[in-house]
Amino acid sequence: MKRYVLAITGASGPIFGIRLLGELLKHAQVHLLISHNTFPIIAEETGLYWADDPAEKIGSHFATDRICFFEDGNMHAPAASGSFQHHGMFVVPCSMKTLAGIASGYANNLIERAADVTIKEGRPLLLAPREMPFSPIHIENMLKLSRIGVKIAPPVPGFYPRPDNLDQMIDFMVGKWLDQFGIGHDLFRRWGTKDNSNE
Ligand SMILES: Cc1cc2nc3c(=O)[nH]c(=O)nc-3n(C[C@H](O)[C@H](O)[C@H](O)COP(=O)(O)O)c2cc1C
Repeated sequence: MKRYVLAITGASGPIFGIRLLGELLKHAQVHLLISHNTFPIIAEETGLYWADDPAEKIGSHFATDRICFFEDGNMHAPAASGSFQHHGMFVVPCSMKTLAGIASGYANNLIERAADVTIKEGRPLLLAPREMPFSPIHIENMLKLSRIGVKIAPPVPGFYPRPDNLDQMIDFMVGKWLDQFGIGHDLFRRWGTKDNSNE
């Protein structure tokens, strides 16, 4: 079975990471890293209160044992080491603080360290930076990472699948992120096709 690392950081839009997690679990084991700054935003934006005992609550929310959850202060987690094998890492959404930490190689918490290790080991890394507008500092950090092959894929919706509601717009974004890793899905209708079967 494949294995991915998914980090959810304290930008608006943790629902994107939560929805991505649901899709990844159909295919893979997921090492899930959620920054402590994110839990209040998850509560505020989704009504899910995961701060106390997140491993138990997230496991029962998704009814799976495929999730391995780690606190962002746990520098002993598997993803902190290059010897831990995985098929790539997503940071969805990615705050400007985590973006800066990854771009500078500061590795100040488990998420930044896991991204640093993913880069040094030459594994796929995708960031979904979320801020509006971006400052020149943010853009420089993104450019620096893009130049070394990190996928910079912010949550920017497309309207050609004619979304009827917010769920479909979120599915479009999740599908685009999965595409970057070659992970199959039927989350949106592709250009030139008639329905989500994409044939
Ligand atoms: C409700 C709320 C929304 C936020 N939205 C964003 C955002 O969209 N982008 C961002 O870069 N930071 C945002 N922040 C600030 C980050 O949470 C803050 O910089 C934090 O230190 C990020 O830490 P982390 O990357 O370790 O999760 C938000 C904070 C709050 C409380």
